[in-house]
Amino acid sequence: MKKTTLIAAIGLSISMSAAAGEMAFSGPDSVSYAKDLWSALGAAKLVGSSADNSAPYKGVHPHGAVLTNATSSVTVSGHTGTVIVKKNFGGEGVSTDAVAKEPAKYLKAVTVMFQREDGYDADNQNWFWAKYKADGSLQVNEKNMMLAGRVAKGKSKGCIACHTAAPGGDMIFTN
Ligand code: HEC
Repeated sequence: MKKTTLIAAIGLSISMSAAAGEMAFSGPDSVSYAKDLWSALGAAKLVGSSADNSAPYKGVHPHGAVLTNATSSVTVSGHTGTVIVKKNFGGEGVSTDAVAKEPAKYLKAVTVMFQREDGYDADNQNWFWAKYKADGSLQVNEKNMMLAGRVAKGKSKGCIACHTAAPGGDMIFTN
């Protein structure tokens, strides 16, 4: 291999691995998909001020003191899939009763798993992961990366790493 070809090949593999990291999560495609998903959840009354909340229950780490959990199906960019919406409630005076009365007051985060089309992430059952603030904007991790997409594929921490441990091999804890 000529030296210039070799350098070009190294350069290409570096930019390709950067692109793969970008594709895993937090990239522009994941962020805009997360926005469309939030809109679909709003239209289905799974999130937003007119959402129908299921009964709150006491949660476990890391998802918050009080939780609600809803499973449904929504359509995003022409694909209809299963969606699981977990709301995390907290703050001064939080309790299951308080959340049942005034959910908006205590809502801290909305974590979502949406099963995308085949091939999106075959290793992880094609789940798209997102963590939103109460207003629908995306939360970020300690590296300031937005939590949307294959979070964090190939890493020892994050949605995928932890949910891989869920019993039954479907990445879902609450079933
Ligand atoms: C350290 C482990 C851990 C991490 C990290 C984690 N989860 Fe979870 N997740 C859980 C557990 C445990 C439950 C069950 C909680 C319950 O309802 O009591 C759960 C439940 C859920 C559910 C409801 C469906 C289910 O599996 O029961 C969703 C949706 C969810 N998590 C999304 C996310 C998203 C999105 C992320 C990343 C931003 C994430 N989770 C990160 C442990 C984790």
